[in-house]
Amino acid sequence: MIKSLKNTVEDTFIEKFNTKPIVVCSPGRINLIGEHTDYNMGFVLPAAIDKAMYMAIAKRNDDTINLFALDLNDSFSTTISNYTQSDKEWPNYMIGVVDELLKMGKKLGGFNAVFAGDVPLGAGLSSSAALECATVFALDNIFNLGLSQLQMAQIAQMAEREFVGVKCGIMDQFASVFGKKNHVIKLDCRSLAYEYVPFNLAGIKIVLFDSMVKHSLASSEYNVRSQQCQQGVVLIQQKYPEVNTLRDATIQMVDECLSQGDIKIYNRCKFVVEEITRLQAACQYLTAGNLAAFGQQMYQTHQGLSQLYEVSCPELDFIASCAQQETDILGARMMGGGFGGCIIALVNEHATTQIIERIKNAYHTQLGKQMKVYEVNIENGTRLV
Ligand code: GLA
Repeated sequence: MIKSLKNTVEDTFIEKFNTKPIVVCSPGRINLIGEHTDYNMGFVLPAAIDKAMYMAIAKRNDDTINLFALDLNDSFSTTISNYTQSDKEWPNYMIGVVDELLKMGKKLGGFNAVFAGDVPLGAGLSSSAALECATVFALDNIFNLGLSQLQMAQIAQMAEREFVGVKCGIMDQFASVFGKKNHVIKLDCRSLAYEYVPFNLAGIKIVLFDSMVKHSLASSEYNVRSQQCQQGVVLIQQKYPEVNTLRDATIQMVDECLSQGDIKIYNRCKFVVEEITRLQAACQYLTAGNLAAFGQQMYQTHQGLSQLYEVSCPELDFIASCAQQETDILGARMMGGGFGGCIIALVNEHATTQIIERIKNAYHTQLGKQMKVYEVNIENGTRLV
């Protein structure tokens, strides 16, 4: 029998540190619709999935932090009193959380941690948020910090923004912490009010086509997109001072205030405002059980992300267009920050195997590339296991 990830991190921890740890599981996420809307205070529709980070962790009696990334066979050590950003990327997601907690005045001591996961890295499934959320949840537990779920999501987000340097919204960390089996989360990123919408769709599979293009541009271009949206807001404010974010803007305002200026700013803002409206329509279709109409909204999102927001790439566009030709795919689009990663598709279960074969083959014969495919289920959020 293959050892579970929980047992693997637990056993490795005991071998290395000779004490028994607690184990935390924190999932990756999908997002059905509502992309690049979170940092514009719009809505998103994510869910946690059955691919997760597992972290074994226990307190130490001194102020040393020992981290071990099992999948990378790489370790990192520092101290609570004297840590800095690391050149290696992965420790920053964890130390960033420590940094945020200390800035809040929380009392922490040293700890040992071992983690491993099956969230593919750089595939747009938020492996980084999963690692941040596992860390904050684990530290809350071992040091009795008394954090609420919302605080955990916010601390994890701040770690990413401040210590890692990606000026992300709250979606990924919120989904990882608040995930609920067979439900998507309709989150209002302005008020942080949220609602669980049932998503146990008989006969439909959620399939992720991983282009295997790693989103290396993602962090720099991501921050550029966020700035472009803010520039748009400043211009709209000259006429409409009540507009604080793109959530408050209408498409008429965007046309009126931005269409004569920088085309990029216009396109970015147009996409975001349309996407916020699109999500509302999509949610109504979902509640009405009209998945065909829901899927059409997903295709429109892809087109907008590709042409207006310009965060797609030829590989993702190719897979999306293959998907669109399949009558048994209800909807598909690129997911997450962009520049690589996955296409998410809703596929009629009976046709899943054949469709996956066809799209894989087309990707190989026409682009000369290999893809990976994951069928995922919607799971609960960050928890002790
Ligand atoms: C990344 C960010 C999220 C969100 C998406 C795009 O995943 O971490 O906050 O902005 O991109 O929707």
